[in-house]
Amino acid sequence: MDRSDPRAEIAALREELNYHRHRYFVLDDPEIADAEYDALYDRLADLEATHPDLVTPDSPTQRVGAAPSTQFAQVRHETPMLSLDKCTSTSELAAWEERCRRLLATDDELTYFCEPKIDGVAVSLLYNDGLLVRAATRGDGETGEDITANVRTIGAIPLRLTGAAPTPLEVRGEVYMPISGFLEFNRRAQEAGERTIVNPRNGAAGSLRQLDPAITATRPLSMFCYSIGDGPPAAGWRPTRHSEVMAALRTWGLRTNPRGRLQGDLGACADYVEALLAERDDLDYAIDGAVIKVDDLALRRTLGQITRKPRWAIAYKYPSEEASTVLRAVDFQVGRTGAITPVAKLEPVFVGGVTVSNATLHNMDEVSRLDLKIGDTVLIHRAGDVIPQVMKVVESKRPRDAPTVAMPSECPVCGSAIVQEEGEAVARCSGGLRCRAQHRERLRHFASRQALDIEGLGDKLVDQLLAEGLVGSPADLYRLTVDQVAGLERMGAKSAANLLAALDESKRTTFARFIHALGIREVGETTAATLAKEFRTLSALIAADEETLQEVEDVGPIVASRIATFFADETNRTLAEELHHEIGISWEEVAEAVQTEPLAGQTWVLTGSLERMTRNEAKAILLELGARVASSVSRNTTVVVAGPGAGSKRGRAEELGIEIVDEAGFAERLAGLGRPLGDALAP
Ligand code: IVH
Repeated sequence: MDRSDPRAEIAALREELNYHRHRYFVLDDPEIADAEYDALYDRLADLEATHPDLVTPDSPTQRVGAAPSTQFAQVRHETPMLSLDKCTSTSELAAWEERCRRLLATDDELTYFCEPKIDGVAVSLLYNDGLLVRAATRGDGETGEDITANVRTIGAIPLRLTGAAPTPLEVRGEVYMPISGFLEFNRRAQEAGERTIVNPRNGAAGSLRQLDPAITATRPLSMFCYSIGDGPPAAGWRPTRHSEVMAALRTWGLRTNPRGRLQGDLGACADYVEALLAERDDLDYAIDGAVIKVDDLALRRTLGQITRKPRWAIAYKYPSEEASTVLRAVDFQVGRTGAITPVAKLEPVFVGGVTVSNATLHNMDEVSRLDLKIGDTVLIHRAGDVIPQVMKVVESKRPRDAPTVAMPSECPVCGSAIVQEEGEAVARCSGGLRCRAQHRERLRHFASRQALDIEGLGDKLVDQLLAEGLVGSPADLYRLTVDQVAGLERMGAKSAANLLAALDESKRTTFARFIHALGIREVGETTAATLAKEFRTLSALIAADEETLQEVEDVGPIVASRIATFFADETNRTLAEELHHEIGISWEEVAEAVQTEPLAGQTWVLTGSLERMTRNEAKAILLELGARVASSVSRNTTVVVAGPGAGSKRGRAEELGIEIVDEAGFAERLAGLGRPLGDALAP
């Protein structure tokens, strides 16, 4: 784009913005991330601000939101639905407060209401005599689409308000697709070979714009309400504060976000913004920031609005979790069990707060589902510490003759044949422990926190030990000498001694950890714990045939066959026996183990963050005590441990009346069972 000629740049930006607007609003199939759209829009707005003579009435900047589609009846909003000014730093936030103070001519502390900024679709609900009579999208802010029939299918939205709500009452809020529902929808779509949804916001928008409400009804949608319309105050009700409005909405049966907080000053708002960002990944809904609103409604009226944005509120935007970039190549990585995972090598891009250059592609089915070719422009998503995912390919940007992605026929590490069992999505290197990559991953797994937890034996050291030929099997780890380890680069006598001590320490463990450490396919922590409980000794586990294994709770035919096959292999069996009998890896005897399972039969759920231990450590303790640890709350849940940041799981537990304890309560409970928390890391 020619940046020296503002007229040409403006024209190009408008064309680009219009193209993406159409893809986003009309086709529900965006090609670029929101943040990228915003950047183009902001550039255009900047140029138009410096060249007001170049502003035309049809410029994308001259309207708010989408043009209403013609497929739905149009609805004129009584008062326009506004958008929000945004900031991305505390200094900009402070500048916003300064402006508010100046306009209000006050030095007093202002009280603010802070809420998550939900990444969904703005919707207006109209209630007459407590009955939902109309629902509309924001559209361009003035005119939206009548989506009443679709909205009536959303369970979270009451068709009739409870209590004495004023009438008429316009309620505004955000309809969204819960992340759990979004993932589930995509899982099913993937299975059925149908089109997946790019992100939860698109899922919400697309679902609301279905012409057949029966389709909307099958979509997981919910709503958080955040205001009432600013029309003439309804008879008999004169709220003076936003917080009062929010409380009233709840009493009428409308859903508001449980994280809404009244804050006494701007410093508290900044703390809120930071704390909410830390909780972002624990929430079951996508947020793209926090909204800070002046709580006093009279002050709001004084502040008013400018170009469709209220002066009394501001959105503090978080780093976008989406971006588009270019696929340079696909690498094939070999995992512990030989599984070959295609990994996207990307043009580095800043997303979710970090620079990303790799994304997982899971398996070749996923590659073909995405129809991915080298050189493609792709949309990627990265949330929290989850591995970045490729969401879709932008076909219109595909270079000519883009090469397809092909699975190699030989392992890139050891050259053994790559095989794919029938009915399996995953291809594997057939090299077994002859393959260095499998070897390395297996040792890493063996030493990992959830397995034998060998402190100090990290990925780097494993690589060094392998490169020097000092270890082959995990048993070799226990035969290392101080001299051998001290001789490695960046290791001294002290760290060598520490490693040997840690190895020695790891010999006292639990049977469950031992089984997990063996790295049997499909046998994760939970299954390992069940097997330990059931079989109690290594010889019993080795002796169990598939039929016996299948009798164990939660062990199906596939897992049973994996375990039997594992121990049928001479090398595996010998290794397990060697580790136990010769190296001396041991665990408490079985009779005691039974008594140390006071939580047998109970199901626990961990949510939010814990301070004195990680969730994994808490999980390990619970498993040892005989509990099942589930990832979602249901009627069968016994107790939910909810740390700060606990989101929807806590809400669900409250709904179902399930016992909730915080970390202190959890620690107390453990102490009562003779498992004080100081032992959290002890095997
Ligand atoms: S207040 C006066 N509160 O963000 C402006 N908006 O850019 C009314 N949004 O389209 C919005 N969460 O749909 C408000 N807690 C929240 C929100 C929120 C999401 C959306 C809203 C609007 C956009 C503004």
